[in-house]
Amino acid sequence: MRKPFICGNWKMYKTIAEAVSFIAEAKPLVAGASGVEIGIGAPATALKALADAAKGTNIQIGGENCHWEKEGAFTGEIAPGMLVEAGCSFVIIGHSERRQYFAETNETVNKRVRAALANGLTVIMCCGETLGEREAGKMRAVVADHVKNGLAGLSAADMAKIVIAYEPVWAIGTGKTATPEQAQEVHAIIRGILAEMFGKNVADATRIQYGGSVKPENVKEIMAQPDVDGALVGGASLKADSFAKLVNFGA
Ligand code: PGA
Repeated sequence: MRKPFICGNWKMYKTIAEAVSFIAEAKPLVAGASGVEIGIGAPATALKALADAAKGTNIQIGGENCHWEKEGAFTGEIAPGMLVEAGCSFVIIGHSERRQYFAETNETVNKRVRAALANGLTVIMCCGETLGEREAGKMRAVVADHVKNGLAGLSAADMAKIVIAYEPVWAIGTGKTATPEQAQEVHAIIRGILAEMFGKNVADATRIQYGGSVKPENVKEIMAQPDVDGALVGGASLKADSFAKLVNFGA
């Protein structure tokens, strides 16, 4: 009943031209994928061209961040309405790279999440512990902190537009994937937190993606875990053939 959601996170990669040619290449490779939702999170400059190129396909386009105000003196930021205007249907919020390098906090994540929802965007909200936190036995506490505070003030109805991405920081871009069992353990913890916050029905309906060195070689075993409902993929989403293999994990 939870439709898997495979989403690329391009981070700070690809020019407009590269983004558009990716869609041309990927389009026929993913056209037959049924029962899976497909997305690409991309740099702001490429969003409009990407959304135009992806029109009429089964590929959704999203931003990698958004601000909470409608407009204003916030140099370098993008309003959620601007993402919608560019053709985005979703936005990634609270990625660990934003927390680590750009002083993103649970409080700003929560503001961004609420503003994105108010503009009709689906939100992929990221959470996950660092290696140090895991080794110190704090994985559960950190994930709970991210999820509870990031989703604070949301209603059960709001949760229809929320996707959680569990991304252990130690597995991002390192080639070191969590084992399927490690992913499943944390996904079940997250679902338990969602049940406490919003009730069992909402928890059962919310998709939880795994992210961190997902690639064509390991996507199937990760997706086979009962509480893994998709993947948020950086490196392996940059090439159309690799991305298509991820999308077609069940084929
Ligand atoms: P990776 O990145 O797939 O390159 O590890 C995942 C992410 O940061 O979303």
